[in-house]
Amino acid sequence: MTDRPPLAPTPSLDTAGARTLPAAAYVDPVALEAEKDRIFGRTWQLVAHATDLLRPGDFVPVTVLDQPVVVVHGLDGELRAFYNVCRHRAGQVALTKGNRKSLQCRYHGWTYGLDGTLRTCPEMDGTRDFDKADFGLVPVRVDRFGPFVFVNLDPEAPTLAEVMGDIPGEVAAAGFDIDAMSRVERRDYVVEANWKVYVDNYLEGYHIPIAHPALFREIDYDAYRVDTFRFHSKQSAPIRDLKPGEEIGRDRRYMRSPEGETDALYYWLFPNTMLNLYPDNMQTNVILPLGPDRTLTIFEWYYAAPGTPEGWESMQQAIAFSDEVQHEDIVICEQVQRGLRSNAYDTGRFSAARENGVHHFQSLVREFLGED
Ligand code: FES
Ligand SMILES: [Fe+2]
Repeated sequence: MTDRPPLAPTPSLDTAGARTLPAAAYVDPVALEAEKDRIFGRTWQLVAHATDLLRPGDFVPVTVLDQPVVVVHGLDGELRAFYNVCRHRAGQVALTKGNRKSLQCRYHGWTYGLDGTLRTCPEMDGTRDFDKADFGLVPVRVDRFGPFVFVNLDPEAPTLAEVMGDIPGEVAAAGFDIDAMSRVERRDYVVEANWKVYVDNYLEGYHIPIAHPALFREIDYDAYRVDTFRFHSKQSAPIRDLKPGEEIGRDRRYMRSPEGETDALYYWLFPNTMLNLYPDNMQTNVILPLGPDRTLTIFEWYYAAPGTPEGWESMQQAIAFSDEVQHEDIVICEQVQRGLRSNAYDTGRFSAARENGVHHFQSLVREFLGED
């Protein structure tokens, strides 16, 4: 571990005086290449879950956009990650999830220990100035938040703990034991819009009254707030009391409970990871660019007690509810992408009351691209 300087203080944001990112940032393929390198190549990316790597010897191939990585549960119990690239002629050392004592490249059979060292490489004796010790797998940083496994391609980046700040403590204080929750569902949605359009949209509640009528009924919009930190932000919205005549399951999805957490909490980690906490479930979203105007969003749902009949029923309702909200967001994002391509639009302004989270994200994009 290198000693990294402490995080610089969070810059103060002048949302009232700012302009939105220019339209070109959302449509230009060159801009996306720069973002892959300077944003996705330098930040913590959620790539796996602890259940993928339970036993010593378990390994799972993942990608950070187009960079192949393998995450390994070592025989010594340590979690490690490496570029999934053989040092011979760039074959891949893990093609599928598995459990082994070593990783063997499927091309010419070079074999690496789970600690990345090159163990055997047939018929290399006559090769001049070749030392096996110089040809280990290239390590990648890996860390965990509870069961969530993140990797970071940048050796100089702040730690995951620094990026997350108070999130782990707040999640525990809200009553979520994330290690004890099970993944019950995954849904992938392809959105025909730039990944930043999707993230911008996620980071404000300003559109809820118009775009999400059912969600609007659940929350106290006036009390909705967005707090920004160095590399993450938090949106919170109290769940509204039932109005006379409203029924749970018919008019409303969630109910204020006298004990426990009664806010919907939406955490976002720069640039593309979201953790959404509702009274009875948790959801992760990972947002991945497929092209300048194409984005994959991966949703996963977690429950504390998915095995019980009530758990099952409530789970299906929660999934259907966020699926509805997601479809409303996709429609909006795809409209915005067409608007960003129009001759009429270059840049806009923020609502200072409601869009500080969007401005915070866009400021980090500019910072990472070196445009400040
Ligand atoms: S490329 Fe891996 S052994 Fe040749
Ligand atoms: Fe939305």
